Amino acid sequence: MAEETRLIRSGLKSSTGKPPAKTVGPPIQKGSTVLLPNAASLYDDDAFITYGRQGLAAHDALKAALCELENAKGVELYPSGVAALSGAMLAVLRAGDEVLVVDTIYKPTRRFCDHVLKRFGVTTRYYDPRQSPEDLVGGANEAVKLIVLESPGSLSFEMQDIAAIAALAKARGILTLADNTWGAGYLIKPLDHGVDIAVQALTKYVGGHSDVFMGSAAAASTRLARQLCDGVLHLGWAVSPEDAYQMLRGLRTLPTRLGRHGESGLAVAAWLRGQPEVAEVLHPALPGAPDHALWARDYTGACGLFGFVLRPAPEAAVDAFLDQLKLFGLGFSWGGFESLAISCDHQLKTRKFHPDYGGPLMRLHIGLEDPNDLIADLRAGLDAYAKAI
Ligand SMILES: Cc1ncc(COP(=O)(O)O)c(C=O)c1O
Repeated sequence: MAEETRLIRSGLKSSTGKPPAKTVGPPIQKGSTVLLPNAASLYDDDAFITYGRQGLAAHDALKAALCELENAKGVELYPSGVAALSGAMLAVLRAGDEVLVVDTIYKPTRRFCDHVLKRFGVTTRYYDPRQSPEDLVGGANEAVKLIVLESPGSLSFEMQDIAAIAALAKARGILTLADNTWGAGYLIKPLDHGVDIAVQALTKYVGGHSDVFMGSAAAASTRLARQLCDGVLHLGWAVSPEDAYQMLRGLRTLPTRLGRHGESGLAVAAWLRGQPEVAEVLHPALPGAPDHALWARDYTGACGLFGFVLRPAPEAAVDAFLDQLKLFGLGFSWGGFESLAISCDHQLKTRKFHPDYGGPLMRLHIGLEDPNDLIADLRAGLDAYAKAI
């Protein structure tokens, strides 16, 4: 054979004749093409993976591990958390349906509902996170097919009674979907509380290092797992095998990291509560904070994300606080090893039930640094804030 042909055929077999080495993690297979052993297997989708988009070794290992984490019948992977939320909704909704979405939902999910779902004939109604489960489900009309929850809510951290909403919805034949990025599938397992689909941005705590995007949707039944799988297939989503491997690696240390994030977050939150510039701390795991009882009932721990309200001051003082911080980065995508801070008021404007905190709302992500160093950094920021008032 010519050299071109020999080069194309080269390296396909082991040079030693031994099977591949067994490593702790799965092999990172890279491939769009999957080679089938014979003609009969080309269309035998039950027995063979026939395409490389989602079925390679690292994808498979990550899906299996996430099924274990979420107590799910099936898990699908998506290129980002937003893609998981939009993909799961597209998989279960059709034109003419109505979806009830909590008003404290992550803002890009709202954008998807208001723009994409609307274009495809699905109506979205936003509900107050503090509406009772009875009023929420009791007020749903016949067109409602899905209720979307996020607990605690983005930026303002209201807790929802997930189990009560899921039970009432089930009795009415309405599906429930929870964005459980705060709980990371570990601090609470929504499927165990009756939720049908649990979504999380793996980008945050599962990845844990602020360098990979991915999302997952976990299904409580094999029928829903099939629906999610078909949705991914129809829309052609793929995640890279390297990214799947990274997520699996992150998953191994998720409980250890979350423990530290949660502990340090509570230490910082308790300290903030005693500072004269702080009006209120919004951390559901902090005793005495809003909705603490619901958190204590349902969660095994906390992550490092919470909010606090500053005493009223002009916007320039908020900027002075943020600009003074040396250890906290100013950035949005949380869940990594590093601490972050943002101001939130700009993002609250799109809400239907606008909360009035009487002062600027801030959000912190507490990373893996020593909490005493973080507290010293925040104290310097609050000094700058007080000076700018
Ligand atoms: C609650 C919540 N859900 C979903 C997402 C989206 O994740 P991704 O950045 O992977 O799209 C985020 C991102 O900040 C989030 O905070």
